[in-house]
Amino acid sequence: MALHRLVSITIGVPQVAPVAAYYEEFGLTPAASGRLATADGGEQLQLVPAPRRRLLELRIGADDADDVGRVAAALARLGIDAERTPDSVAAVEGGTDVRVVVQIAPRLAQAGVAAALNGPGDVRRANQRAAATLRDGPVRPRKLGHVVVGTTDLAGSQRFFVDGVGFKVSDTVKGLAAFLRCSTDHHNLLVQPAPFAFLHHTSWQVDDVDEIGRGAQALIEKDPARHVWGLGRHHIGSNYFWYLKDPAGNFSEYYADLDCIVDDELWTPVEFDGPKSLYSWGPPVPASFLAPDDLVEMMRQRHA
Ligand SMILES: [Fe+2]
Repeated sequence: MALHRLVSITIGVPQVAPVAAYYEEFGLTPAASGRLATADGGEQLQLVPAPRRRLLELRIGADDADDVGRVAAALARLGIDAERTPDSVAAVEGGTDVRVVVQIAPRLAQAGVAAALNGPGDVRRANQRAAATLRDGPVRPRKLGHVVVGTTDLAGSQRFFVDGVGFKVSDTVKGLAAFLRCSTDHHNLLVQPAPFAFLHHTSWQVDDVDEIGRGAQALIEKDPARHVWGLGRHHIGSNYFWYLKDPAGNFSEYYADLDCIVDDELWTPVEFDGPKSLYSWGPPVPASFLAPDDLVEMMRQRHA
């Protein structure tokens, strides 16, 4: 029938142990396999040793063998070599240097969150304190939502993901990037031009804006240097966000309330330009968000 979600990612980092400890604090649960799990999406993060931090693999869920076959045929039409198994197809995308696997996977069924918000003239929570103020357990991300990677070949990467794998374009930023989806989420992937392939951030869904605040506060209380950018609300995709940094330098985002495109016919992609392309409100964008502090050093190491 279709692609329906991100299944998992593999991130390479020079030192696995401190990064694994960070994502456990972030709210993921270590599994017996050595991977880290989200509450709803299961074992979605694998960390492996690598000379420099980067996204090594991205796995995408499809419903059935016909979907996998369609992706394999589309990649072949683009002249891209791919490995086939009965239930998967895998190829390395050149611009991002990421191994992309489309595999048959079960769809996610997520239990709903009943939000009871009091608004002007609209009291949904009469005679009750807000449940969010009473939470004291750890924040548990529900699923991996999206990844953002740098590419040395923007047109080639977009061709691979859109014409090859079958991502849909939700919105674009003029001359810069396209927000791509393989599910009903507004975006699951964004590729942006970069001097070399690197992982900008991964993003993890939490229940609501309170969980974003609680999660980020707990991480920053232990180490203020983890703060990158937040709290704010993106304009494209509408989600609340807070970006933090793992010990290897990868950004990890808590997000909530992302736009969902359930009927393709009812969504009109917009080409954005200017300040709104980054956010509707929040603190000023730090320069280190746009160009991470370690980019120059990673580039120097590459050339060395
Ligand atoms: Fe994001």
